[in-house]
Amino acid sequence: MKKNVNIAVVGLGQIGNYLLNELNTKKKDIELKTGKKIKIIAISAKNPKKKRKFKINKNIFYKNPVDIIKKTNVDILFEAIGYSDGVSKKVVELSLKKKIHVITPNKALIAKHGDYLAKLAEKNKVNLEFEASVAGGIPILRTIKEGLATNKITKVYGILNGTCNYILSEMETSKNTFSNVLKKAQLLGYAEPGNPKLDLNGYDAFAKVRILSSLSFNKKISNKKCLMEGIENIDYKDIDIANQLNFRIKLLGITELINNKLFERVHPCLVKKDSYIGNVNGVMNAVIVHGYPIGESILQGEGAGPGATSSALMSDFLSILRGNIKYPFGLPNIKRKIPLVYNVDQYSNSLYLRFEVKDKPGVLSQITKQLAKRKISVERLIQIPDHKRKTASIVIITHKANEYNAQKCIKSIRSNKNILKNPILIRLL
Ligand SMILES: NC(=O)c1ccc[n+]([C@@H]2O[C@H](COP(=O)([O-])OP(=O)(O)OC[C@H]3O[C@@H](n4cnc5c(N)ncnc54)[C@H](OP(=O)(O)O)[C@@H]3O)[C@@H](O)[C@H]2O)c1
Repeated sequence: MKKNVNIAVVGLGQIGNYLLNELNTKKKDIELKTGKKIKIIAISAKNPKKKRKFKINKNIFYKNPVDIIKKTNVDILFEAIGYSDGVSKKVVELSLKKKIHVITPNKALIAKHGDYLAKLAEKNKVNLEFEASVAGGIPILRTIKEGLATNKITKVYGILNGTCNYILSEMETSKNTFSNVLKKAQLLGYAEPGNPKLDLNGYDAFAKVRILSSLSFNKKISNKKCLMEGIENIDYKDIDIANQLNFRIKLLGITELINNKLFERVHPCLVKKDSYIGNVNGVMNAVIVHGYPIGESILQGEGAGPGATSSALMSDFLSILRGNIKYPFGLPNIKRKIPLVYNVDQYSNSLYLRFEVKDKPGVLSQITKQLAKRKISVERLIQIPDHKRKTASIVIITHKANEYNAQKCIKSIRSNKNILKNPILIRLL
């Protein structure tokens, strides 16, 4: 890498704008640590007239980011627009083809096109870095790629979406409903005001799981979805009951190899209140890695927000300036095989089940009979009657139950006229 390095920042939203300010204010520190003089020669956003939090230099503003690649001699480009396709993909693709290093926090782009883009980067001998795409400020990708480079990783799981973790924690502490807490999260800027769906339905965490799997197991990014459930249907009632049973509900992203097959999932989990993960609250993220010989390794920190995300982007940046040109996924693309995918129907796990029923004799035995028929055995059972309404909540913690059997069983119990609502199923960690 030459001494004077030209930089472009594409996308000046929450992340790009903050990053630009970091780059401007930390030039001396960067030179001290890398010996490189950096110059921001181009910036781009959709609306040139928009008022931004930090001052921008209009003389280097490009309305179309593609022009930056065509018309300037940029060395390193930050992509912070955020689409999985469209202009984000185009800018990254063209940059790599023109031997420009790329740094991005865009998990949607990497989860969808990471293999192709990594191949391009490798071919053109430039970097494609995406530390900020998973768990914000937590340096989990570099930890897996470098710190744990020779470990055999078997499982990675954690809290990968700060919005969901905030909502679940706040529902517990304020004893409030999902929709009220979501409104509060939107007011505080923890959830997107317009469309928070991709955070709440597990999609965002799933993109991060895919990136984690790929790095942990040295495989191509899987395009198959094993299991994805969000938190939209979590009721305060379940948080309360879980609490009484010494559990908390957390949205977890989990990836593991079972018999050499990849099992990726995102869903709410009951975790023990005295476990590490059970005490990661609010907008915090945490990632737990199981590997050999390292054992269990845990990283926790802020998973989103401009500060934490920029910290990860800057770490990628300094890595490139120091000449750490590596394979984006830690090994040559050709050595990364397409993973075999685990059949979720074969999965067995303990379950939390809640049935809202008419409070009359025989209903409980109708439920337990159906469970027994599907070889699902009960570990704990609680009945909470509501005498006024003549209803009851039946809560069951099962021993390990097969996923396919459990789904079939729930379906058949639902058709019983004494069952008043769709049964709730939450897996235990
Ligand atoms: N926000 C976080 O906490 C966070 C955390 C981790 C990762 N990330 C990732 O960081 C990326 C950026 O997120 P963000 O929160 O900063 O998004 P954002 O606030 O919505 O900013 C997006 C930026 O892209 C610009 N843009 C949109 N279309 C464009 C186009 N056709 N050409 C040029 N610029 C265009 C927008 O321009 P205007 O400003 O003119 O509208 C805006 O500046 C995403 O990939 C996101 O997943 C975000």
